[in-house]
This record gives sequence, C-alpha cells and structure tokens, in this order.
Amino acid sequence: MNFCSRIPRISSALIIFLLLTSACAAIGCRRAMFDQSRHKPLQGSSFFRDGMSARPLLAGTIPRGYLHTNEAFYNGLKGTNLIAELPMPLSRELLDRGRERYNIYCSVCHDLNGEGNGMIVQRGFPRPPSFHIERLRIAPVGHFYRVITYGYGVMYPYSARVPPEDRWAIVAYIRALQLSRNAPIEALSAEMGKPKNRKS
Ligand code: HEC
Repeated sequence: MNFCSRIPRISSALIIFLLLTSACAAIGCRRAMFDQSRHKPLQGSSFFRDGMSARPLLAGTIPRGYLHTNEAFYNGLKGTNLIAELPMPLSRELLDRGRERYNIYCSVCHDLNGEGNGMIVQRGFPRPPSFHIERLRIAPVGHFYRVITYGYGVMYPYSARVPPEDRWAIVAYIRALQLSRNAPIEALSAEMGKPKNRKS
C-alpha cells in the first residue's frame, strides 16, 4: 500500500526531471550556435598570413544582383561605340516618366526646355550647353546616358540618384525636347496641330 502510493509521485518527478534536462539540452544547443567562435567583419586574425580574417575576393567576383551583362542598357555602349538607339521600346509611358524625372533632376540647371538656363545657373553655377546645339542634336543616345551616369566636366554624376531605367527615360525625353525644336515640317500631320481634349 505504502509502496503503491509512491509510484505516481516518482513518475511525476521523473517527468519533470526529463522535461528540465531536455529543455536545458535544447537551450544548450542554441547557445552553442550563438557562441561559436567566429570573426566579426574587419577583425584581424593570426590564422592567415596576411593577418586578416576576411579572404580576398577571387578576381572577377560579382556581387549578387550586379551581373550587368547588358552593356547597351547599363553602359550605353556596344563594344567601344556609343549606342545610337534606345535599348528598350519607346513608349508614351517612357517619355512621361522621362519628363517627370528630367523636370526633377535636370531642369534645375538645364531648364525645362533644355536651353541651360535653370535656376541654379541663374544663381551662378556654370551654364551647361543647350541641348539644341548641333553637336548635341546629333550626339548618339549613349552619350546622354553616359553623361548622366558618369558626369561631364563640372556636372556631377547622377548614377546614385537615377537608376538605369530612368536614365534612359530621361534620354528619350531629351530627344523629344530636341525634336520639338527641329522637327521637319513633313513629319507633322494636320491631326497633330489640334489642341488636346477639344472636339473639332
Ligand atoms: C547642378 C547643375 C546640373 C544638373 C542638375 C544637371 N546638369 Fe547636366 N550639365 C551641367 C553643366 C554645368 C554642364 C556642362 C559641363 C561642362 O562642360 O563642364 C552639363 C552638361 C550636360 C550635358 C552635355 C554634355 C556635352 O556633351 O557637352 C548633358 C547631355 C547633360 N548635362 C545632361 C544632364 C541630365 C540628363 C541631367 C539630369 C539627370 C543633368 N544634366 C543635370 C549642369 C547640370
């Protein structure tokens, strides 16, 4: 009688003991992963001869997401030549986006028409050339893309602020600005002269 009444007490103590030990074991595993020996970024190491814990990157290593094999799109080049055609289809959306981005990033110097008389220039910054001069009218689109990407003379690069897609949109819009001054009359139709949103 005495013996039997002890059985449940022993087993519940055993269960608690087992639970505790398994919990400790689980926590122990976790801590071991936390505390494993490792190097913090830029920490020195006596293990390698160069004293650095980080290994030098293999030649040609490319960070994830930076494999830019499309030279035309990312660099405005085909071989060593500037590309003369947009590397994407021209669309109304592209031009609208280009106008919006141009007005934000470029018009402050180049002005809304591309003549180079933006507010910053009126306040003393060197005056850029007009986009309507002969040299820039015949310049291939790749030239404009690369000016935005790498800067030009005193103009600083915009690659950190304007992603490649938007650079091309801006280039397309600059072409439209140029065309607006120099379109041959034969290229215009009577339809184009009609004001928008008005029924004739
Ligand atoms: C802070 C003023 C400023 C801003 C903003 C600016 N530019 Fe310029 N840009 C200049 C100046 C100044 C030059 C002339 C640089 C020189 O010849 O030293 C120039 C030159 C250029 C040229 C002509 C290069 C050539 O072949 O002569 C192009 C094209 C151009 N910019 C495009 C852009 C575009 C597109 C943007 C917007 C993404 C932009 N710029 C924003 C000041 C600016």
